[in-house]
Amino acid sequence: MARHLITSALPYINGIKHLGNMVGSMLPADVYSRYLRQRGHDVLYICATDEHGTPAELAAKEAGLSVAEFCAQAHDAQKAVYDGFELSFDYFGRSSSRQNVEITQHFARKLAENGFIEERAVRQVYSPVDGRFLPDRYVEGTCPHCGHDKARGDQCENCTRVLDPTDLIDPRSAISGSTEIEVRETKHLFLLQSTLQPEVEAWIDAVGGEWPHLSSAIARKWLTEGLHDRAITRDLDWGVPVPADTWPELAAEGKVFYVWFDAPIEYIGATKEWADAAADGERRDWKSWWYEADDTVRYTQFMGKDNVPFHTVMFPATELGVREPWKKVDVVKGFNWLTYYGGKFSTSQKRGVFTGPALEILPADYWRYFLIANAPESDDSSFTWEHFTATVNKDLADTLGNFVNRVLSFSRKRFGDAVPPGGTPGAAEERLGVEVCHLLAEYEDQLEALQFRKAASALRALWSAGNAYLEEKAPWLEVRTDADAAALTLRTALNLIHVYGVVSEPFIPTASAVMRGAFSLEGDTATWVTASRAELLDGVPAGTAFTVPAVLFTKVTEEDLESYRARFGGAEDH
Ligand code: 2FM
Ligand code: ZN
Repeated sequence: MARHLITSALPYINGIKHLGNMVGSMLPADVYSRYLRQRGHDVLYICATDEHGTPAELAAKEAGLSVAEFCAQAHDAQKAVYDGFELSFDYFGRSSSRQNVEITQHFARKLAENGFIEERAVRQVYSPVDGRFLPDRYVEGTCPHCGHDKARGDQCENCTRVLDPTDLIDPRSAISGSTEIEVRETKHLFLLQSTLQPEVEAWIDAVGGEWPHLSSAIARKWLTEGLHDRAITRDLDWGVPVPADTWPELAAEGKVFYVWFDAPIEYIGATKEWADAAADGERRDWKSWWYEADDTVRYTQFMGKDNVPFHTVMFPATELGVREPWKKVDVVKGFNWLTYYGGKFSTSQKRGVFTGPALEILPADYWRYFLIANAPESDDSSFTWEHFTATVNKDLADTLGNFVNRVLSFSRKRFGDAVPPGGTPGAAEERLGVEVCHLLAEYEDQLEALQFRKAASALRALWSAGNAYLEEKAPWLEVRTDADAAALTLRTALNLIHVYGVVSEPFIPTASAVMRGAFSLEGDTATWVTASRAELLDGVPAGTAFTVPAVLFTKVTEEDLESYRARFGGAEDH
C-alpha cells in the first residue's frame, strides 16, 4: 500500500469555473483519487481556492464587496459546485488561510537566508489619480506584439504573450481608466531563479523521465529558454504580507507576495488546514506528507498546460532554494484545452458551459463521464452539445443503463427478487470472463498511467461486453426451453452489474453506488475487484436479494438539445 498525495491546480477565486477548467485539473484528479482509494491506498487529495492577486481584487470591486468578504462567499459558492460534481477532496482550503501565510513567509525567509532572494529597485507604472502603483491586471493597453487594444499588464489574452505592465502601448488604469500614467521607481523582492536553474535541471533529469509527454516537453522548453529572476512581490492590499522581521521597509510600504509565489505553497498550507481541522482525538499528520516524506509518498499534480511551467520549474525552484526537505512532485499530469465548438471557453467573456449551470441541467455523472472520455490529453478537444448528447445517449443510456435495467427487471420477472442459481458456467461464460479480465487489466493500466481517455475506452468496452454476452445468450429465448440456462445467464449478467458498480465508481460515482446498492451484500462493496477475481463473475452469490433501481441514465432528447443550444449558444455563434 502506497501513500498518494494528489493535488489539482487551485481554481482562481474570481467566479465559477467552466468545464474546461474542470476537465483539466479537478475531475481527473478526483477520478485518480477515487481509483487509488478503492484499491486500498492511503490517498490525500488536496485542493483550495487561489484567492490572492489582482483578479480577486478586481472581482471584489465589481461585486461591491471587501476582498475578504468576496473571497469568503466565492469560496463557498465554488465548494458547493464541487460537491455537486462529487469531487472527493480530503480538504478544500483557501490560499488566504493563516496556515498559508505562515508557510509562505517561512519559505521567503529561508530563500533570503540562502541567498536566493534579492531586493531590487524597479521602474513601475504609477497612477497619480488612483494614488498607487498599478501591477499586472490593474493596467490595460495595447499589446506591443499583436496590437490587441485590451491587453492586460500581465498577459495579452489575444496572443497569450506574457507582458510586463511597462510593455503596454497607451497604458491606462483598469481602476479609474485614467491615462495619466507615470513610471516611478520602487523596490521589490526578486527570486533568483537563474541561480537555481542548474539544480532544477538536475532535478528534472532525475524525475522528469516519468512524466507524461506534455508536461516534460513544456518543462524542457522553459529550461532551454532559461529561467529568469522574477519579482515575487506586488503593491496590493490583499495578499500574503512581506514579513516585517526580514524586510521592514517593504513591509511598511504594504507590499505583499505575488499570487504565483504563494499559490503553490498553499498545497502545503491546505494540508496543514486539513490537519488543523481534525476532530478531537483524530490524528492528522500533515508534515508526514510534505516534510521529510519517505519513499512511500507519491505526489501527483493535475493541471492545464498554462500552469505546467509554474509546477515543473518555478515551484520546484522555490522548494529547492528553501534548503529544507519539502516533498517535490513525482508526476505532473498536464492537459490541453477543451474548446467550445472549436473556440475558447472564456471566463471573462462568459462563453461556454460553466460548472454551476451544467449541474442545473444534468447530474454530475453525465458530465464526469463525457468530460473524462473526451479529456484533452494528446491534443485539444472540443465540446459540442451534439457530441455530448450522442455520447450520453449511446454510452450511458444505451450501453450501460439499458443493460443494468434490462437484466435486473427481466431476472426479477422470471426468477423473483434474488439472484437465481442456474447451472455451471459454460464456454460463453468463460469467454466473457477472459474478456472482462483482459479489459479490466487494460483499464487499470491506463488509470495508473494517467491515460484517462484510454481508461474511458476500456470502461466502455467492459460495458459493451455485457451487452454482447446478453445478445449472444438471449435469456428471453432461453427461458422458454431451459430455465436453468436462462438463470445461469442472468446470474452471470447480475454479477457483471456488480463489477460495473465497483469499477465505474471513479467515473460515475452516483450510478455506481446505485448498481452496487441494488444487491443486499454485506460490508464495503466498493472495494476493487481485481481482474482475475472479476474473471470468475461470482462475487454476488446465488440467493442474494436485489432490487430494481429507477432508470440509471435518461436520454437527452432533441428538445433538450435544442434548449441547451438556445441557452448556451451553439455552432452558429462561432
Ligand atoms: O491558473 C489558475 O487557475 C491558477 N489559479 C492555478 C494555481 S495552481 C497553484 F499553483 F496554486
Ligand atoms: Zn497580443
